Amino acid sequence: MNLKKKVKYITPVWVKKCLKYCFYLLQDIANRIKGTNLKGYPPKRLNFVGSNEFKKVGDEFVKHFKELGNLKSSDTVLDIGCGIGRIAIPLTKHLTDGELYGFDIDKRGIEWCKKNISKKFPNFHFNYADIFNKYYNKKGQIDADKFNFPYDNNKFDFIFATSVFTHMLPEQIDQYLSEIKRVLKPGGKCFLTWFSIDDEAQKNISNNSSNCDLIYPYEGNVAFYSHKNVPEAEIGYKEPWIIEQLKKYDLSESLKIHHGSWSNREESTSYQDIFISNKKY
Ligand SMILES: C[S@@+](CC[C@H](N)C(=O)[O-])C[C@H]1O[C@@H](n2cnc3c(N)ncnc32)[C@H](O)[C@@H]1O
Repeated sequence: MNLKKKVKYITPVWVKKCLKYCFYLLQDIANRIKGTNLKGYPPKRLNFVGSNEFKKVGDEFVKHFKELGNLKSSDTVLDIGCGIGRIAIPLTKHLTDGELYGFDIDKRGIEWCKKNISKKFPNFHFNYADIFNKYYNKKGQIDADKFNFPYDNNKFDFIFATSVFTHMLPEQIDQYLSEIKRVLKPGGKCFLTWFSIDDEAQKNISNNSSNCDLIYPYEGNVAFYSHKNVPEAEIGYKEPWIIEQLKKYDLSESLKIHHGSWSNREESTSYQDIFISNKKY
């Protein structure tokens, strides 16, 4: 294991979160002094969703939604695990006649989105759900595998979850896919990102060249994770299991898989693997 990975996997999660907060706080102070804060974006210290390249990742996904997912400006869209608006912010420019509904289990993220996005864009709605997740919401009171999305049947044209199923356990994903089936219109589009383990990804995990060391099997051997004590920090799934699950919930029509660079494969579209499909009519 190289040094970078050692630091990533051996440092306790709470230490990493504290270090990240301090590092971003310094960047916020520097940006404030220089007057280079990005308007309409959260301060860096509130970014709990990963990459330092917050704006770049948001813009990248909106491009994928349009080009690969055929997202229309009039669509009614669901953003599962919307975080602190990384994707919703650039979507405000595109969804001019449509609506976006987002929910997340991080209260600060939802409060920021309500205050900074919904106020200017009343067609963007955000909800907090106090769901337990060992990495993101340790005090949550609701089990994800029993959670029903707070929306009517067949409401949405387009549903996405970016970097969310990479933090959820198999029985929780099963429940979320059944809920996606319920709230997505027949023929509607489903855009999900995963760490999908196919033969190439497995080879690179085994020879230690993958960015994510998904080596610990979760019960049932369909899922593998990298942080020994916190599976939700980073978890991937065997590709045939993902496809079976999508089929089980009628979400595998016209399925297209765009593999990502996380496993260090030669050709990639994004960092995580993108699965785009339609709900059966
Ligand atoms: C890596 S962040 C990605 C956030 C956002 N999708 C984005 O791309 O910026 C993972 C998000 O999943 C959320 N999350 C984890 N478990 C969840 C669950 N059961 N339901 C909804 N959101 C969840 C976390 O709170 C966090 O905001």
